[in-house]
Amino acid sequence: MGGFAFYAYLCIIKLTHMSTPQLFTPADPRAQRLIASLAGKDKVSILFVCLGNICRSPAAEGVMHAIVDSHDDSARFVIDSAGTGNYHIGDLPDHRMRLHARRRGYELTHRCRQVTESDFDRFDLIIAMDGSNFANLRRLAPSPEAEDKVVEMAAFVSKAMRCYAIPDPYYEGAEGFELVLDLLESGCDNLYNCLSTKEQ
Ligand code: 4NP
Repeated sequence: MGGFAFYAYLCIIKLTHMSTPQLFTPADPRAQRLIASLAGKDKVSILFVCLGNICRSPAAEGVMHAIVDSHDDSARFVIDSAGTGNYHIGDLPDHRMRLHARRRGYELTHRCRQVTESDFDRFDLIIAMDGSNFANLRRLAPSPEAEDKVVEMAAFVSKAMRCYAIPDPYYEGAEGFELVLDLLESGCDNLYNCLSTKEQ
């Protein structure tokens, strides 16, 4: 192959690669519609929700913050977490969750709070960690529009991980916390990928 032909070949490879970004599409059509409705929005607000707001949702908040920071995109996102229960209000995340998160470089400093009706106005996306959180949030939603903001985190986790929910690690050992972080890293990365307006 001559020099020019080889150069042209390299350009074609590069262009082909650039025109097929690795975009993720959630399997759940409701999540697809919700994500599509946020395309190009200047500011996107996301609330992660679990039961206690001391393990899964504050970890999701920490992972998502790290991802938007790493893309220099934190100004576009408001990220928070809350629980459907009220057992731990004001507490830091569970010490085991903080330890496992810290090992991966996430410092979890959120203080536990309970979901309120006003969260359905304040947030564009309300992401439930499991089916029970999802059902509770939909029951709490003050309107059908508010109900439509609720989606499950599992919809964003890469299909190869065969995830149907982010499992509650509270009564589990170290591997339960590691699994939560693995699933959240995949889910948050794909969620950012869906919402990003930056070239990736
Ligand atoms: P989380 O885990 O919902 O991921 O924060 C739990 C934390 C505490 C309790 C249950 C689940 N609890 O029953 O106190």
